[in-house]
Amino acid sequence: MTIIAPSILSADFSDLKNEILRLTEAKADMIHLDIMDGHFVPNLTFGPAVVKALRPYTGLPFDTHLMVSGPDALIPEFAKAGADIITVHAEACPHLDKTLAEIRRLGCKAGVSLNPSTPEDVLDYVLDKLDLILIMSVNPGFGGQKFIPAQLEKIARVKKLIGERKIMLEVDGGINPLTAAEAVAAGADALVAGTAVFEGGDYAKNIAALRQN
Ligand code: DX5
Ligand code: ZN
Repeated sequence: MTIIAPSILSADFSDLKNEILRLTEAKADMIHLDIMDGHFVPNLTFGPAVVKALRPYTGLPFDTHLMVSGPDALIPEFAKAGADIITVHAEACPHLDKTLAEIRRLGCKAGVSLNPSTPEDVLDYVLDKLDLILIMSVNPGFGGQKFIPAQLEKIARVKKLIGERKIMLEVDGGINPLTAAEAVAAGADALVAGTAVFEGGDYAKNIAALRQN
């Protein structure tokens, strides 16, 4: 079954503890944490202190998406805060091989994310160091954007590249029941959704609608 990872970027930031409890109750599979630095992306969210504060309120894995320039200095902080998966952007890591090894050394699962314009061949020589590949189907920075259809071809290519390896293929941005079906048909195992999970307030129904695909 498709793994659904709601992004709390669309949650009520004044009530994050209860939002996490509600998502857990609504049968989310992971909690997606969008970390933005106002530099790699033109927006700011939250850091390790908030991740640590939320950690006691769910047993679900924390899927931590670092949209930051030079993530190496922050990785130990997020590991300590309780991140389960730490995903960095290939575009932000000149020493990607080393960065991924460090994430695993700290006891976390290692992920790489690719912006829509980044070709998948950056993955060729790090496949043995990866637990997750995150294909951005929007340009990162904001929720509520439109799914970029050209990314479906990239999802299919990356699925092929993964082959029999145990690497989760996750897609992030503009996911709704329609694009969820397309992404899964192309090969996605996991879907991140902000807007589509939070709109209308019935999280369980919204999550189930994404998973039907
Ligand atoms: C975008 C973030 C996404 C975003 C998805 O930079 O990485 O996780 O929250 O939001 P929706 O589902 O609204 O496109
Ligand atoms: Zn994200």
